[in-house]
Amino acid sequence: MRITDTSDLWWKTAVVYCLDVETFLDWGGNGTGDIAGVVQRIDYLAELGVTCLWLMPFYPTPDRDDGYDITDFYGVDPRLGTHGDFAELVRTARDRGMRVIVDLVVNHTSDRHPWFRAARSSPTSRYRDWYVWSDDPPKNKATDITFPDQETSLWEWDDKAGQYYLHRFYRHQPDLNVANPAVREEIAKVIGFWLQLGVSGFRVDAVPFLIETHHQPTAPRDVPDPHAYLRQLRSFMSRRSGDAILLGEVNLSHVQQRRFIGDEDGDELTMLFDFIGMQNLYLALARSDAGPLTRALESRPHLPDHAQWATFVRNHDELTLDKLTQRQREEVFSAFGPEPEMQIYGRGLRRRVPSMLNGDPRRIRMVYSLLFSLPGTPVLFYGEEIGMGEELSAEGRAAVRTTMQWTAGRNGGFSSAAPSRLAAPTVQGGFGPEHVNVEAQRRDPDSLLSFVTLLIRSYREAPELGWGELEVLDQPHKAVLAHRLTHDGSTTIALHNLAPEPCQVPLRLRDATEDTPLVDQLADGRTNLDAAGRAVIDLDGYGYRWLRVLTPSDRRLV
Ligand code: NOJ
Repeated sequence: MRITDTSDLWWKTAVVYCLDVETFLDWGGNGTGDIAGVVQRIDYLAELGVTCLWLMPFYPTPDRDDGYDITDFYGVDPRLGTHGDFAELVRTARDRGMRVIVDLVVNHTSDRHPWFRAARSSPTSRYRDWYVWSDDPPKNKATDITFPDQETSLWEWDDKAGQYYLHRFYRHQPDLNVANPAVREEIAKVIGFWLQLGVSGFRVDAVPFLIETHHQPTAPRDVPDPHAYLRQLRSFMSRRSGDAILLGEVNLSHVQQRRFIGDEDGDELTMLFDFIGMQNLYLALARSDAGPLTRALESRPHLPDHAQWATFVRNHDELTLDKLTQRQREEVFSAFGPEPEMQIYGRGLRRRVPSMLNGDPRRIRMVYSLLFSLPGTPVLFYGEEIGMGEELSAEGRAAVRTTMQWTAGRNGGFSSAAPSRLAAPTVQGGFGPEHVNVEAQRRDPDSLLSFVTLLIRSYREAPELGWGELEVLDQPHKAVLAHRLTHDGSTTIALHNLAPEPCQVPLRLRDATEDTPLVDQLADGRTNLDAAGRAVIDLDGYGYRWLRVLTPSDRRLV
């Protein structure tokens, strides 16, 4: 393939790293992470190989939903820094070859947002129609409730307004009315504002809820087509910045997801998180059977060339298993989160990967090797690269939103403030900073951090992993996923063993011969094929190998 394509459609081979400014590094010493702290660690991220930083919400907020409850879409929370700090961050990141994308959370605002305060104060306020009101709201289904531990309805009575308002999430997060053209104009302005400050796009929160209009009070004929609205947003963004992206949170079936890319036209979201692949990965791990993962990958709908899947194994929310059946979910619960305190909302786990895998280094590495070799663009959640665990004594999803572990020292090097003043808890016990931290792993060639750095380098060297069409190779072991990605004549084959027993995997490659050896990418090694393109590959228990098919004309470095 043309190497220049990888900079043109940069997101197809990006390595995305998600962090929350509040928990990453406290440079000011007051217990809360800050933008200045992120700037200090840009070189760390660059060394790791990150090419795109995803900043979770850093906007002014009462912080009742970890910053996803916003009071000013144009602001920077004064606890975290200023617009000046933000501009310096974007500039420093760019200097190290890293783009920045930010969360776009415009399905709702905080109930303390000035727009909502004005809206509820009077039916004649110009902001009244910026939200969704009803005198007699429809009954909702229990499954409509996102946070069943705290909410029972999508509608909240407001004494001041004398009406109910819609809230897809917590009651303190009233939904914006996107059927109102003034709201749509304002959302576009927000997009334009952050693009002007140099961001390369947005992680778009809760897209299906954002664009839904069926609750809106406007007469049906006036309610815009939700997907036409998403198309408008995309074209507005692309006019302002040609290579900016929309990475959407759309936790729906694969078939439903495709509409959010804009089907074959590809004129809506640029990228979709693969929630179905992620959930089935855990089922496959729980069963030591690659089947569920294979079926999920093969059920991905075709996307147009410039669109992309974002692959991930953890994020800042619960590890949702909502798209599995009840029985499948129970299998995953019993393998990776058997205690009730590890589970949340009846559908997910509030744990990180290493603790779910009992700290087994072989299994942890195998999972990250999968993450980077599955077709798509990998997204890391901060701390994954060093194997951070969770803190179950923290409430709800906060268990995985602990402070970053830089050193073995006080507060894990996150802050010089007293531990009681930290904005988030620090992990205690075996996965705490004394045992898991960046400093100890940086110069250790055998550390997880070094391994993830190698995975990133190898991923970036094999653009077919981001661009290629998936082919699952036939082989006899149920626990093994052998897959191949080919693009424009370049091929990588990856093998992963989801079981503890070592095995030998016979492969037959239709287009390879004794002139095209397989070269290991994660270790030294070379396997010759016979004239019929056959070879037998050894795999350790929980083993993983990436093999490049080296054709005589291949001039890439091996
Ligand atoms: C999705 C975010 O990922 C989650 O953390 C948040 O609670 C909801 N949107 C509501 O904003």
